[in-house]
Amino acid sequence: MSSYVIRKTPGDTEWFRHDRFGMFIHFGLYALPARHEWIKNIECTPEEKYQRYFAHFEPDLLDAREWAKQAKAAGMKYAVLTTKHHEGFCLFDTAYTDYKVTNTPFGRDIVREYVDAFRAEGLKIGFYYSLIDWHHPDFPIDVLHPRRRDPDAELQDQGRDMTKYAAYMRDQVRELLTGYGKIDILWFDFSYPADPEKSDAPKWMQFGGGKGKEQWESEKLIALARSLQPGIIIDNRADLEQDLWTPEQVQPTSWITHEKTGELVTWEACQTFSGSWGYYRDEMSWKSPEMLINMLINTVSLGGNLLMNVGPTGRGNFDDRAESALAVYGEWMKYHAASIYGCTMAEPCFQAPPGTRLTQKEDGTHLYIHLQVYPFAHLTVSGLSGKLTYTRFLHDHSEILYDEKKETGEVVFRLPVVKPRVITPVIDVLLA
Ligand code: GLC
Repeated sequence: MSSYVIRKTPGDTEWFRHDRFGMFIHFGLYALPARHEWIKNIECTPEEKYQRYFAHFEPDLLDAREWAKQAKAAGMKYAVLTTKHHEGFCLFDTAYTDYKVTNTPFGRDIVREYVDAFRAEGLKIGFYYSLIDWHHPDFPIDVLHPRRRDPDAELQDQGRDMTKYAAYMRDQVRELLTGYGKIDILWFDFSYPADPEKSDAPKWMQFGGGKGKEQWESEKLIALARSLQPGIIIDNRADLEQDLWTPEQVQPTSWITHEKTGELVTWEACQTFSGSWGYYRDEMSWKSPEMLINMLINTVSLGGNLLMNVGPTGRGNFDDRAESALAVYGEWMKYHAASIYGCTMAEPCFQAPPGTRLTQKEDGTHLYIHLQVYPFAHLTVSGLSGKLTYTRFLHDHSEILYDEKKETGEVVFRLPVVKPRVITPVIDVLLA
């Protein structure tokens, strides 16, 4: 058994740590401008202009069953869909706003189709819900708001009532957590609390005030969510510590620990294929196949999960670049899932030689050595002598011979000179 003790939290995180790999889906009106999901903020788009995307929202190729099939084929075990992003547009048939998918030409409840399709493929279901809302009339105009530069921003801000907005969020979260069966993850995004300690905070930061647990009324919001879906996993981004730490677009270099107690925590890195989360037509920064695979390995080797994002196009399908990236995962996971599912950071007695990353089965039976830099002919691993019974490549179960050096505790693996034809080969070490 793994010796790592992980901080206990209210949600049911055990399945989550076992499954390790999920699909994030960012879909909304911003798929149409196709130049970042923050487009409304970046370009300070006036409301009437942004309305064009609502009027032309026709994702005619959207087939959630196809999304789910591709997620499953990539080896992903759960998914998190943006039910509402910062733009405020709702992908579900909510009773609390007209700014929803069922009022667009498309007319269908995408959240419903997503839930049905992913559940049918056996994947667990997550909802992303943006705390920020750049459409709601009660959401104050602050430093991030698209109206912040309007000459009459302060006038427009008058009368906005945050408590009404907080109630709106509770109403919607109730809809989401009662209307769609069992929901496994609730992913709030995100807080930027004003720091009362910093009286010298620049004016632009104070403009409209920061937003954190007080403004969102996070205690109430989360209590409601937990009462409706007891085992649900909730992230920490409502400015209230819950189940899940969520480093974004960074690769942690060690297992994430609790800020105060130092305990190991449940964490999930969220990453993109190309930089933005929503579909971005002209982005040129698509990650290489090697990087995609190694990000997953690196994450699990530090006890974390990977939530990898896809931004469907305005027509609702995954574009060719996203499909290729998913296929990279599918091809590798077909042969290497065993070193990911049910795996965690290897016990500290095993030290990864340079260019390799280790994972280990929770139950301690296998050590997996991921050869990210393929060595020439030999690989020496310390701390392993006397602890192994058999070794093989994971992708084809071909035997790997080894020599044990009892004096030093080292094991030297004899590897073929030519790297096997998989992105990152894995030595499967069966432990005694
Ligand atoms: C950020 C961004 C957002 C994205 C999210 C995913 O907070 O605001 O666009 O949805 O991260 O982690």
